[in-house]
Amino acid sequence: MKEHKNCRASIGVFDSGVGGLTVAREIMRNLPKEHIVYFGDTARVPYGSKSKDTILRFSRQIIHFLRTQDVKAIVIACNTASALALDTVEKELDIPIIGVIRPGARVAVTATKNHRIGVIGTESTINSHMYRKLICEADPSITVYEKACPLFCPLVEEGWLKDPVTKEVARRYLDELLEKDIDSLILGCTHYPLLRSLIRDLVGDTVTLVNPAYETAKELGELLAREHLENPDEPSDPPATEPYRFFVSDMADKFGHFANSILPYDITTIQKINIEEY
Ligand code: DGL
Repeated sequence: MKEHKNCRASIGVFDSGVGGLTVAREIMRNLPKEHIVYFGDTARVPYGSKSKDTILRFSRQIIHFLRTQDVKAIVIACNTASALALDTVEKELDIPIIGVIRPGARVAVTATKNHRIGVIGTESTINSHMYRKLICEADPSITVYEKACPLFCPLVEEGWLKDPVTKEVARRYLDELLEKDIDSLILGCTHYPLLRSLIRDLVGDTVTLVNPAYETAKELGELLAREHLENPDEPSDPPATEPYRFFVSDMADKFGHFANSILPYDITTIQKINIEEY
């Protein structure tokens, strides 16, 4: 089998905070041979209320940092940065980079039966209309209803995943979409899958909840195969470095606590770095 010289390097994954762990989790499950370097920008979260210029600057700094960690490909595990920065940064890079929006839009197009899709996300993701654009390009007969849910991200970062306050906030956001008779709802922010069971209770069984994370891991697997970048080592082979490494820009303990509650294994070390230096 053809092997790329860099095939044993890690996958760089980043988000504004803990949300991207929902994508890292899918990569761990579906591509167990791959190593991950995760960066959570916990000093500068949330991204969803910031401008394109700012998100582009943050993304460039993070990519610069990830490259110092010898990564062979990058996953932007953040809808906001995927919507606002991916198009630009992919032109600047000589390694593959993917986001979460394209895979999410693709799966929603196949999921809907009544051609009415809801999308929830941060203000910046919703204002970019990126999901609507990609869905309507794929199938112009689909109507997309978008709703920004800016309070969800801080509630998730706070760990209030099942709190009555979160439920009330969700009800206010989602009622409007449910009135549109949607049959599929894209969780268009990587923090939102952590609210999945609360959202499920509100929308009922008839609405398909689309989590772009799974589809993103699948697309990453296809990309690695195409580029001959798959790690040939077995997960049981002793790795040269820790298979999963975590970096944040602030609050490493809080991040670690959260990460250990959602990842299928316990993180032992999380390094805090000064991302502004990159
Ligand atoms: N989790 C990110 C997203 O998917 C960003 C949330 C935020 O920082 O506002 O958009």
